[in-house]
Amino acid sequence: MNVLFVASELAPFAKTGGLADVMAALPAYLHRAGHDTRVVLPLYDTVDTKKATFEAIMDLEVPLGTHRYACKIFRVGNAPPVYFVHCPALYARGRLYTSDADEHRRFLALSYAALLICQKLDFAPDILHAHDWQASLLPMIIKTLFAKDPRFAKTRSLLTIHNLMYQGSFPVEIGPDTNLASVAHLFHQDLMKAGRVNFLLQGILYADGVSTVSPTYAREIQTETFGGGLDGYLRARSATVVGILNGVDYDEWSPERDRFIPHKYSASDLAGKERDKEHLLTSLGLPYIKGVPVLGVVSRLVGQKGFKLFDPAMFDLLRKHGFQLVVLGSGEPVLEALFGNLQRAFPRQVCFYQGFKNDLAHLIEAGADMFLMPSAYEPCGLNQLYSLRYGTVPIVHRTGGLADTVKQWQPRAGAGNGFAFEHHDEGGLRWAIEAALGAYRDPKQWQRLIQNGMAEDFSWDAQGKLYELVYARLTSSRRH
Ligand code: ADP
Ligand code: GLC
Repeated sequence: MNVLFVASELAPFAKTGGLADVMAALPAYLHRAGHDTRVVLPLYDTVDTKKATFEAIMDLEVPLGTHRYACKIFRVGNAPPVYFVHCPALYARGRLYTSDADEHRRFLALSYAALLICQKLDFAPDILHAHDWQASLLPMIIKTLFAKDPRFAKTRSLLTIHNLMYQGSFPVEIGPDTNLASVAHLFHQDLMKAGRVNFLLQGILYADGVSTVSPTYAREIQTETFGGGLDGYLRARSATVVGILNGVDYDEWSPERDRFIPHKYSASDLAGKERDKEHLLTSLGLPYIKGVPVLGVVSRLVGQKGFKLFDPAMFDLLRKHGFQLVVLGSGEPVLEALFGNLQRAFPRQVCFYQGFKNDLAHLIEAGADMFLMPSAYEPCGLNQLYSLRYGTVPIVHRTGGLADTVKQWQPRAGAGNGFAFEHHDEGGLRWAIEAALGAYRDPKQWQRLIQNGMAEDFSWDAQGKLYELVYARLTSSRRH
């Protein structure tokens, strides 16, 4: 099949979170599986163009209402090719996402550029795979403005929602910039009357298929609690909403060959893990004391991730149990302040590294004993999957993809791979951390837990096949 991916992130070039990892791995899987896959991405000014060969292949002009954007398209690689849209007027902002007045145009330009690239290369996608709100108007665009182009006549669209809480909601005045004024009746009318246009909602309404990144999240977003106001529309399309867990790129994330960790290790020989732990602590200026457990966090510091449960519970837990805590992340000032306070209160136990640092993310996965993800909601979550592979026992809130992948430890049966608390409150967090610390004190239990986790397989070879099945279902339903 011909598959066109349109997304706003791709590791290692442009990354704020898991979307980038998925974009690096899923198209690569599809390419290996024999599909002609192409990926289109903005060339942000933050992209390190020394990381690969960027070959200029064409110039495009993208009109958006009364605006005209001159774009140069660069191709990187071939397995699969990634087309970067170079347009400094839109993408030279020092960051991937902004709250600037033209934010909608930044990703509309990406969407239209993707279709223009297909035309110029004479590439007829069987599947248009759009990711998140940034690409969510595409299903509607190909069904209207591009409907007469034979290259798109048979294209079926799949919208994957990586996080329902980012919807791309804009004032209705941006309407003309979408080029869709002639089909304005296809926008959600009540919302327009209320003065808004919601890109993700338009995608949910017009995509041929909708997916999200775990079975549990697929169910959760159809409820009022997790639906972000869109649950009714998702319920109405329930039959076409599927949940497919993300896979892991084990070439990037495996302790046997991780280029960012000094001591490699495997399930059959864990000696390197203890040495990585020592290296992690000493490189962060913390004392290494054998037998003292280290808890790790690598995260965007935003409300979704649930760290407000740490205040004040974590102060008490650190005092009472004496474990160490290593945190890598940045984001909302209140959460950065919380981790700053923890570090000041427990200078020998806590290190907060404020920022985004890929090599440290890998070292924490390897060097920590346990990994904390108390997310309020989590569409899939990748770090718990990485943790399992690194023998780092995940402690999570049982929600979304965390519920699908982290199974509560049952000491008697020797079953389970981590600790998952049900109620998203301080009591839940405390229970899970104390249960994990209890198991850690018993080396036999701990070994079993580590082995159970390391034996899990969330490779893209398994998960990618599920996307192929969805693609096959979508294309088989088209009229020939
Ligand atoms: P989300 O996409 O919601 O942020 P995921 O668990 O799916 O959550 O993916 C997070 C990805 O981003 C992982 O690859 C993780 O290592 C990476 N990451 C998050 N924060 C940082 C950081 N501060 N430094 C380096 N990598 C980070
Ligand atoms: C989003 C979600 C995260 C998911 C990632 C990749 O950022 O927050 O749970 O793993 O997308 O799908």
